[in-house]
Amino acid sequence: MADDLKALFRLDPGVTFLTHGTYGACPRPVFAAYQDWQVRLERQPVTFLEPRHLARVLAEARHELGAELGADPDDLVPVANATAGLNAVARSLPLAAGDEILTTDHEYAALEKTWAFVAARTGAIVRRVTVPLPLTSESAFTETVLAGFTPRTRVLFLSHVTSPTALLFPIGRAVTEARARGIWSVIDGAHAPGQIALDLNRLGADFYVGNCHKWLMAPKGSAFLHARRAVQGLLSPLVISHGWTPDGGTPGPFGHTAFQDAFQFQGTCDPAAFLAVPAALAFRRAQGWPGLIDRCRTLAQATAARVAALTGRPPIAAPEFCAPQMVAMPVPDCDPLVMRDRLLRDHRIEMPFPRWAGRSFARLSVQGYNTAPEMDLLCAALASLFAAA
Ligand SMILES: Cc1ncc(COP(=O)(O)O)c(C=O)c1O
Repeated sequence: MADDLKALFRLDPGVTFLTHGTYGACPRPVFAAYQDWQVRLERQPVTFLEPRHLARVLAEARHELGAELGADPDDLVPVANATAGLNAVARSLPLAAGDEILTTDHEYAALEKTWAFVAARTGAIVRRVTVPLPLTSESAFTETVLAGFTPRTRVLFLSHVTSPTALLFPIGRAVTEARARGIWSVIDGAHAPGQIALDLNRLGADFYVGNCHKWLMAPKGSAFLHARRAVQGLLSPLVISHGWTPDGGTPGPFGHTAFQDAFQFQGTCDPAAFLAVPAALAFRRAQGWPGLIDRCRTLAQATAARVAALTGRPPIAAPEFCAPQMVAMPVPDCDPLVMRDRLLRDHRIEMPFPRWAGRSFARLSVQGYNTAPEMDLLCAALASLFAAA
């Protein structure tokens, strides 16, 4: 079954690809739908990019994505990637000197830079809580976050699934508590859509940004920004163009909400990746995807247990706090690039070795196309690499 699925991807058959989480991988039928949108654009660029037409096709994609995410499609706008969506949020919020942005020690390095940039310009302060490891309970997580709130906290910034450590943060109660205190919650869901069943309306975060190119398997360049209706007026896109209105009035210049018009019209663009999101959702349905996640989780956790036995290093979280399709396995100290290159050169396996908090990890991703024999190859390769180190 997984072997059949692999054939539906353009991935190099000579490489065991164990890092779907890095950039995702787009299946052939979805890639074909993406190219089809590009061909349609090139055939009639003026008609295609005319605001009424563009808004209509984007709305169709937003509707399908909204159904997948448990979100009102009108609260969703396309963005190029999670970094762009989170930058738009971070750089829009009206922060002042002394305001505090509360976050954790597991955040994605590029977004740490974004908040440092915002802090330098506004005088706000980034405060980081240390999430206790191993992560084994929701209350340990939430209580740590809540203990970080002060009267000056204006923003709570959390990954839903962390990048270096592949943890699934139980963010629900922290988001609710932030709202109760008037603190804006900004969630980095780069790895969540397609890996975790989302219900954004229920979660109630003020701002939630997710990638579609990773676990939903849409083309690269497809991501979304979701904002609660009540806070949409705070946001400006990174690019101010025809769709923006100075007074943020509703409707915007193209007749949709100010939020949609401002974000959907940012100059000449190629919207094909976002327009192919429904094709990605259809592919997943046709291949029985949500059901495949359990098999991936079982394979990931079983492999992590084998690697733990090999290295003598215990896991950093109980299985329910690991991402369903990713696991960061503690390994002996190593140079991330040297190990990645050796694994690829000597074993034809692609997998990253993130460094985090002075420790080394091997981050395994298991997607529907990965197989148990590939996990055997990985375990044998790690045994030989660490024996040689
Ligand atoms: C937690 C997290 N946030 C943000 C990003 C950035 O995603 P992108 O490069 O698509 O903007 C990543 C990328 O892997 C990530 O892991």
